Amino acid sequence: MKILGIETSCDETSVALVEDGARILDSRLSSQAALHGPFGGVVPELASRAHLENLLPLLEELLGEPGLSGVDAVAFTRGPGLIGALLVGAALAKAISFALGLPLVGVNHLKAHLYSACLRGQEFEFPLVGLVVSGGHTLLIEAFSWDRSRVLGTTRDDAAGEAFDKVACLLGLGYPGGPPLEKAAGGGNPGRFKFPRGMGKSGDLDFSFSGLKTAVRQAAADCRSRGEGVPAPDIAASFQEAVVDILLAKLSAAVASCRARTVALGGGVICNRLLRSRLQAAFPPDRFRLLIPPPELCSDNAAMVAGLAYHRLRRGLPDPLDADPDPGLAWGEGLF
Ligand code: KG4
Ligand code: ZN
Repeated sequence: MKILGIETSCDETSVALVEDGARILDSRLSSQAALHGPFGGVVPELASRAHLENLLPLLEELLGEPGLSGVDAVAFTRGPGLIGALLVGAALAKAISFALGLPLVGVNHLKAHLYSACLRGQEFEFPLVGLVVSGGHTLLIEAFSWDRSRVLGTTRDDAAGEAFDKVACLLGLGYPGGPPLEKAAGGGNPGRFKFPRGMGKSGDLDFSFSGLKTAVRQAAADCRSRGEGVPAPDIAASFQEAVVDILLAKLSAAVASCRARTVALGGGVICNRLLRSRLQAAFPPDRFRLLIPPPELCSDNAAMVAGLAYHRLRRGLPDPLDADPDPGLAWGEGLF
């Protein structure tokens, strides 16, 4: 089954063709990073307009001469995300579905992130613990089967990616902040600043990154008040170390308490090389199945949307044409 996926939840416009939920036939992506960069964050109205301008040309490029003739179903990101941005992808998906009589599937963006590793031949095994770490979410879940899952923990304030973006902005490193901050950290001393590990002793599986962000701002201000320059590489390295510690501590606690052997990861922050290497060390292959997507599938992409939609259609669960985008779409029951 060949599914067309459409992703427009935030600042990447993406379309992809995926076969049987596991093979990416082709994909196209247009990033709006340069558009939002000067504002230090995503401007929702600009994002919607850019999706509107870019989506159809991307789709035409993806499909080429055969057009939609070989496509069996169409999937779009239903939420969570920016409402104006989501509406653009939903409108196109519904128009295609209605015009050609193709099944329609509205996918949960966070579930699609977790599914990303399955696009490179890996499969979910249960019970599994999943961690989505993106610009908008930090979410820990447990899944018992495709039909049954529950949220274990989430952030009480900023998402981890948002903290990377805000700290990078504070250090004048640009937007989105994750990649330049990681680069700056490469030349810094991670032991120079002892930043707090938020909610490390809270006894639950929730996260908090706002105290860490405040500590970084304070450290930079202290350096300035002493008449020293702000040591961006040392601050970046110490901050990155703290985020990785926090994520690993909560994930390890969840895996232990759920007695899970499979750990699934997704979201833009999973591109981070320090985080990837710590995850690989904490969950070695002789004891765990670590489903970690390649970097190009960690960030927002349409292949994960089309891939996950296949599992809904396989169970005969398409959506009606009035399945509207939902900017605050909740996690819900199953994994699809
Ligand atoms: O999943 P994603 O592409 O979009 C959302 O759904 O939010 O994640 C984007 C986030 C941004 O906050 C970005 O700074 C972060 O992922 N990110 C990184 C890295 N690459 C992207 N954070 C840390 N290290 C990276 N290498
Ligand atoms: Zn995302």
